[in-house]
Amino acid sequence: MRSDSMDPKGRPEGSVRAGRDLTLGLALLACVGGFATPVPVTAMPGDVAVTPELWPRLESPMARDPVIEQRVDSLLAKMSLEDKVGQVVQGDLDSLTPEDLRKYRLGSVLAGGNSDPGKRYNAPAADWLKLADALHEASVDTSAGGPGIPVLLGIDAVHGHNNVVGATLFPHNIGLGAANDAELVRRIAEATAVELRATGFEWTFAPTVTTPRDDRWGRTYEGYSEDPALVARYATAVVEGLQGPVGSKGFLGADRVVSTAKHYIGDGGTFEGRDKGDTRVTEVELRDVHGAGHIAALKAGVQSIMASFSSWNGLKMHGHHGLLTVILKERLGFDGFVVGDWNGHGEVEGCTDKSCPQAFNAGVDMYMAPDTWREVYTNTLAQVRDGTIPMARLDDAVRRILRVKLRFGLFEAPLPSARKHGGDFEVLGSPGHRALAREAVRRSLVLLKNEGVLPLDPRKRLLVAGDGADDIARQSGGWTLTWQGTGTTRADFPRAQTIWEGLREAVEASGGQAELAADGRYATRPDAAVVVFGEAPYAEFIGDVPHLGYQVSRPTDLALIRRLKAEGIPVVGVFLSGRPMWVNREINAADAFVAAWLPGSEGGGVADVLLADAKGEVRHDFAGRLPFSWPRHAMQTPLNAGQVDYHPQFPLGFGLSYASPAATPPLSEEAGLERLEQGAVDVFFARGNTADGWQWWVGDGEQRGAAPATLPSRDLAKALELSAVDHLAQEDARRIRWKGGARGRAWLESEQSVDLASLPEERNTLVATLRLAAPPQGPVTLSVGGTPLRIDALLATLPAREWVEVGFPLSCFAEAGAPLGAVRQLFGIDTEGQMELSVSKVALGAPPARVLECITE
Ligand code: BGC
Ligand code: BGC
Repeated sequence: MRSDSMDPKGRPEGSVRAGRDLTLGLALLACVGGFATPVPVTAMPGDVAVTPELWPRLESPMARDPVIEQRVDSLLAKMSLEDKVGQVVQGDLDSLTPEDLRKYRLGSVLAGGNSDPGKRYNAPAADWLKLADALHEASVDTSAGGPGIPVLLGIDAVHGHNNVVGATLFPHNIGLGAANDAELVRRIAEATAVELRATGFEWTFAPTVTTPRDDRWGRTYEGYSEDPALVARYATAVVEGLQGPVGSKGFLGADRVVSTAKHYIGDGGTFEGRDKGDTRVTEVELRDVHGAGHIAALKAGVQSIMASFSSWNGLKMHGHHGLLTVILKERLGFDGFVVGDWNGHGEVEGCTDKSCPQAFNAGVDMYMAPDTWREVYTNTLAQVRDGTIPMARLDDAVRRILRVKLRFGLFEAPLPSARKHGGDFEVLGSPGHRALAREAVRRSLVLLKNEGVLPLDPRKRLLVAGDGADDIARQSGGWTLTWQGTGTTRADFPRAQTIWEGLREAVEASGGQAELAADGRYATRPDAAVVVFGEAPYAEFIGDVPHLGYQVSRPTDLALIRRLKAEGIPVVGVFLSGRPMWVNREINAADAFVAAWLPGSEGGGVADVLLADAKGEVRHDFAGRLPFSWPRHAMQTPLNAGQVDYHPQFPLGFGLSYASPAATPPLSEEAGLERLEQGAVDVFFARGNTADGWQWWVGDGEQRGAAPATLPSRDLAKALELSAVDHLAQEDARRIRWKGGARGRAWLESEQSVDLASLPEERNTLVATLRLAAPPQGPVTLSVGGTPLRIDALLATLPAREWVEVGFPLSCFAEAGAPLGAVRQLFGIDTEGQMELSVSKVALGAPPARVLECITE
């Protein structure tokens, strides 16, 4: 595809830029002609930006099997154009049925983070297997003709088979990175493969071989380490654990699954850690820092690679022919297939979620088109017919997909339930797998401070406090039964133990006593306390944060630790997080401090290390070492070993132990956020996130209400429910549904007040992006600083079910007497009747076209 006459060497300085301009031009060209103009194949997006000679020349570690290649040839000969196009499209099980598969013969079906059999996030394992059988059966049905190519079923088993009730939840990758033990992660991958097989899954979108560099990124915890060497070691072990070692008897056999290295390439290097952002680095840094895991995965024989949502130096990866084809396939010898990410093709310049020949021509072999598969299928068919996509490109993609299916033995495999492990639901959370997960938890704990209080004596009286102590969802993080890891209950985790349950079990077994009090208000005075606290679950961009400060403006956990200390009780802090955070105040306040990451279902692993045995002897020493550098202040990011002026609070690889204790001097309590704090908050809610210190609250009538820790808010308020819905991205908006019959309110609240008095015109209006799905049944007010104004007349003018910007001039509230100099609550919506209103953004701005007219009540 790539013109040989193009000399990759000898290019003038600044060719990267030129390349970018060129590719933009190409994208425009392709779209002006309504895709009628074939995308030129001589110079494709990103080609001039890459230098193949910089990359190692690799070959696929498996020799091409002539038998398989021949079978591919004969299949290709039998396939209609429709059959071929079907193979290169993957749909999501939430958006298709077995009947659709029978008709369209898609190459693959995925289960997204929120997609489940029967739309039940906690569907039993048997339902998953039944669905897998139905999909497989539909795909091989040849009654309407065609060769009957078995579908490949994929899912994100990223910390165990985390979408299925009862499965073992291993620590998220960041915790595994702390264990620094490739054999351990190999065994975890092997166990996960078997749990996948039990429910009929054949393919996992793992491992994530990202090298996160700016820990503000919401996906930091999906990465093993900031250290490319560790990422590479783990990539090898996990790919081999999932697929089996190349050349071994069981390679891609009945105990194994197909693995994916993701996200290619540079996902962890984006500017300011923004998800789906731009990674601006040299090609050498791209290779050495972000490519290390991918290169190791390729050498271990990984069969699929997922393209990244992100860009490299301004060009989106899904459209990057230079990196996907010239480097990955030609230079690095990859002969499996490239799968796109969730509508990731739609991110390419000139593309939509429904049509993107540019991505396919650039080298994506299988579109991940969860809810858009039908349109992508239809458009791809047309684009091959009119030459926009060359037939040779389509054949190449299909060949790659079939090759993997044949290597995997999919054509010979019976129904998923009839295969080895199929329906063996006892392997989900089996004692052996749970013991392995518990071992991983033990090994992942990093001791940051211990002033002699650890190990705790289990024969004494222990208080376990903190809102993370008895909560499987909190200790498991995102990608746990739901995409965000929120909205679950304890009953959804039958084979799991909270950190509290593990501590209690061990204490009671040794004759001591344990008490749980999340708020620390104990019934009996303890000899020591363990306070478990940290981040609430999140995934992807929802987890992006502006800085690494933990509870900087609302330090409730710090207050809890200090209160217990003030009472003379020794305190051990156990911090749950998906990234290193600035917690110097909490570390100072506690006598011992442990970074526990996101341990998953086996909370008992924490007790194994924190508690001595009944004789007072250490049972397990701390083995964890920091896989990421720990910041000295909240804005110390990016922070990575090897950089100039590397001056972390705790360096990469740091970790104390019982065997090698050390004193921790008091740490600086300057958060380093002056700049951010002074800068007025202009956006209170956007992209699914509230501004630092701000939260959504819900309440009934005049009651104080509460800030939901998880969504939907369920019965935190009786009159209404707050839940997550989609506007511009998944779950980036909030829906407020008033049930009727009782007054209820939802609002945004901050612990610290903000000054909204006398703002300049470009910021003098509270501007909200709203969608009214069910109009109000009676009076509705919106309040700022406790002062309500009627808005039902305005709401009545909104178009039904459409997103619109609506302005609420702050001057109206000032006239009505609102104390705008110090506002802690705003955007409070209050009504009694039924109503459904969704909100995707609340910010300060200039008045938009539609504004509230000031009529004081
Ligand atoms: C994520 C991928 C994931 C895919 C399928 C995407 O949003 O970026 O990591 O594999 O969804 O769930
Ligand atoms: C899906 C995830 C996916 C995400 C992408 C969610 O609805 O369940 O699998 O990664 O959307 O935005």
